[in-house]
Amino acid sequence: MMYDSRNPFLSGNYAPWREEGDEFDLLVDGEIPRELAGTLYRIGPNPHYPPRGRYHWFDGDGMIHGFTLRDGKASYRNRYVKTAGLAAEMRAGKSLFGGLAEMPKEIGPEGPFKNAANTNIIGYANRLLALWEGGLPHELKPGSLETVGTYNFCDRLDGPMTAHPKFDPKTGELLFFGYQPFPPYVVWHRADANGNLVESHPIDSGLPVMMHDFVATDNYAIFFVCPSVFRLENLAQGKPPLQWEPDKGTRIGVMNRKNLEVKWFMTDAFYVFHFLNAYEEGNSIVVDFCRMANLDMSGDGPSGKPQPYRFTLDMKGGGVKQAQIDDQINEFPRIDDRLAGFKHRYGYFASSRAASGFGFSSITKRDYQKNRAETFSLGPNTNPGEPVFVPRADKSGELDGWLLSVWYDGDNNRSELVIQDAGDFTSKPVARVKLSHRVPFGFHGNWVPQT
Ligand SMILES: [Fe+2]
Repeated sequence: MMYDSRNPFLSGNYAPWREEGDEFDLLVDGEIPRELAGTLYRIGPNPHYPPRGRYHWFDGDGMIHGFTLRDGKASYRNRYVKTAGLAAEMRAGKSLFGGLAEMPKEIGPEGPFKNAANTNIIGYANRLLALWEGGLPHELKPGSLETVGTYNFCDRLDGPMTAHPKFDPKTGELLFFGYQPFPPYVVWHRADANGNLVESHPIDSGLPVMMHDFVATDNYAIFFVCPSVFRLENLAQGKPPLQWEPDKGTRIGVMNRKNLEVKWFMTDAFYVFHFLNAYEEGNSIVVDFCRMANLDMSGDGPSGKPQPYRFTLDMKGGGVKQAQIDDQINEFPRIDDRLAGFKHRYGYFASSRAASGFGFSSITKRDYQKNRAETFSLGPNTNPGEPVFVPRADKSGELDGWLLSVWYDGDNNRSELVIQDAGDFTSKPVARVKLSHRVPFGFHGNWVPQT
């Protein structure tokens, strides 16, 4: 298969790894803690066929990489999500769809897009769901990683679902939204812990934007309407459908989760892909996220400089206090998910000191109470993805657990799962689990404990 090596997102460790496989009893440097019993599922874009037109990093077919840990041993399995679009391409033996950087000139019977199922993967209601914000989730079998099909909450969800739902740690509910380029632009959804969609409500966001993530507190759901605007009329001129319109500013909507009323705040324009967390404090809401001054979606991947910011929204006075936490590049933010919506002390990020971009060289652990950060690197020519925190036990403390991340070793062209003690972050990792091949740089993942 020939892929365009001039595209940075089809080269190096962004290039697809097309082989599906299984590896057992992986080589381990160190010792895998016995308390870690479960699977770290990760997902990312992995184009099965060379793209028809120009490729954008967000377009590639989702591939799942599962690292299962049990009794101090590790195994690995990777599979494509077999979407209807990918199945059609496999029948045709070639790529059939357009993408974000180049829309198809003529639309085939399968439609203009395929559901890429490439962005996030979660365990929910005894199911494994691969998420993509332009369409429905895909359900997979947790062990075999076989694709079951799209999942629509028993025929209750008829629109797209964000790849960044949040679990309410008190109720186990799944909180999420969907967005689309035509009214209603944003729809709020709430599903119970058992797979029942119990609430859907349109939100008048006023502008058709790409809204990748949101954040929720105990009583509120918070939507940042950043001006990366869908202009579908651009398509006729062969231009990308997303346009940066800073004169629109950024609107922040805070929705009361009980009465669904929205309070709006207005700020200058910026973009956010990912939130770390948010929580209520007195009459304010504190929101930690990775802020980019702007977003250019006209290239092969997103460009910009994501940095950690804290906004404090005054729910009485209506003001927004903005604070930059660090000038380091920080992305793929994660907390201990048991604190989602409540006050966290620590945050973890993929990080770098480079001038810009989405290539990372380190992981940063930020202590928001002491306002300091520790940075960990595996050495030169190594690159981490998103770090995932796994607690030692259900009731253990915020630092009592491990940080799991998949690193690329550029010298050996292989990847490994690195397990760090969250409380002893800068020491040697407790275990490095070696794969025989590389895992392309991807997006998100989650730990699903063994049941
Ligand atoms: Fe994301």
